[in-house]
Amino acid sequence: MTLYINDKPCEAQVGDLLLNAAKKNKAHIGYICGGNAICQSCFVYVLEGADCLSEPGEDEKAFISDKLFAEGGRLGCRATIVKEGTIRVLTRAEKFRRIVLGLNVPGFITYAQTIGYNVTTKLPSGISSIVSRVQSGRLNPVDSLGKIASGIGPASLLVMNNFVETFPFMQMPLDMAGNAAKGALEAASGALCTVSGGRLHLPGASCPTHDRPQEAIERVPIKLK
Ligand code: FES
Repeated sequence: MTLYINDKPCEAQVGDLLLNAAKKNKAHIGYICGGNAICQSCFVYVLEGADCLSEPGEDEKAFISDKLFAEGGRLGCRATIVKEGTIRVLTRAEKFRRIVLGLNVPGFITYAQTIGYNVTTKLPSGISSIVSRVQSGRLNPVDSLGKIASGIGPASLLVMNNFVETFPFMQMPLDMAGNAAKGALEAASGALCTVSGGRLHLPGASCPTHDRPQEAIERVPIKLK
């Protein structure tokens, strides 16, 4: 079995989750939500050996658009190695890093468009997947979303700042992306509020139920470690 993560050769065997193989080999695949198929920080592009991986399940289909599937997109916390062969994956972070380092402006715009398309088309199914897993007890919202919220804020700020510094002309699309992200956060916060009876709201978001006309009754304090 040969597995390359961002060109780093890794030891892996049939039955391994991509994410676990990455951890075992100290190769970078993110896992802000702890492997709960929520954050997509473990998203990878499978460049080779897609047939050596398990078929995408419902959790992945809820978050990944057909367009990204067609480009080899998978979640490292859900894709399992099912047969011997050579697998080569590129993480989303590494793909972005290579685009920026290469000053590949057309590549960056295509990349941003694809990600934007995925966000707008898969947001409803992604949120409803999270909510239904919370309702069925397959997902602990406080544990999982706390991890996400504590990671997303600083990470997205860092990425945004780097974008703007590197590509000042992208300011306007980024503002639009920021508004879309804020809308998504508020939609998720409202959904969680319904599920948790008003006990859980995401930091930085307002809850339509409790913010109008009153403040959210409780917010989960998130601290950076
Ligand atoms: S680790 Fe969060 S979606 Fe896979």
